[in-house]
Amino acid sequence: MATFSLPKNSKITSKGRVHKAQSGGRVRTFRIYRFDPDSGENPRYDTFEIDLDDCGPMVLDALIKIKNEIDPTLTFRRSCREGICGSCSMNIDGRNGLACTTAIEDLKGDVRITPLPAMEVVKDLVPDFTHFYAQYASIKPWLQTVSPTPSGKERLQSPEQREKLDGLYECILCACCSTACPSYWWNSDKFLGPAILLQAYRWLADSRDEMAGERLAELEDPFRLYRCHTIMNCANVCPKGLNPARAISEIKKLQVEKHG
Ligand code: SF4
Ligand code: SF4
Ligand code: FES
Repeated sequence: MATFSLPKNSKITSKGRVHKAQSGGRVRTFRIYRFDPDSGENPRYDTFEIDLDDCGPMVLDALIKIKNEIDPTLTFRRSCREGICGSCSMNIDGRNGLACTTAIEDLKGDVRITPLPAMEVVKDLVPDFTHFYAQYASIKPWLQTVSPTPSGKERLQSPEQREKLDGLYECILCACCSTACPSYWWNSDKFLGPAILLQAYRWLADSRDEMAGERLAELEDPFRLYRCHTIMNCANVCPKGLNPARAISEIKKLQVEKHG
């Protein structure tokens, strides 16, 4: 179970720095969480005023502008800037999402940006994914077979078998869903959470995989799978429009069939 005592230096007590816009223009205010655990200082919110007439349209554009022009110490992850790599996931105005696909004009008032909730912070907007990736590795996210490859070349799928992977293979492992799931907040030490369970189902649904029995046996556990209570936060926040809750219920159905 999660502990409820926070580290001493985790409370936001220190006053943040304010960076005023240089020009008039269409000024928008960004309040950004800053925290460097190694510094011993408490977290703070820094305020940055940005002229939107001199900035790209997405939240990631504003962050890059701040880093390039105002404060090079601002730390965040990004790579593809088109919703494919999953690295710019963060909490924007109280909702988990990708900074590169969230338009500034869709947000109202001051924009508050924090790291994904319920994960340790490495620095500023960068959460520690170590445990999340270890959980991902635990479901063996690769094709497992025992029979020799037919024709010695490749394992084929019919269009219908391939279609079963739609809504699963698109997951970019951004963790927006898992870190929006209350069950994952409280039990992430044991509950695999929606992202990893969606991935687990992706391999169960693959007609070429021959380890379904072993995969289901691994998931048959009061915590690993059954901590999902169908609260649906996961499906509500997924920036790729996926539905991890549905994948979880499919795994539960397979468990019932296995015993039936
Ligand atoms: S449906 Fe399940 S996995 Fe998704 S947010 Fe709710 S408890 Fe978490
Ligand atoms: S299911 Fe959606 S929210 Fe969850 S990790 Fe995959 S892409 Fe991100
Ligand atoms: S930068 Fe790759 S998903 Fe946003």
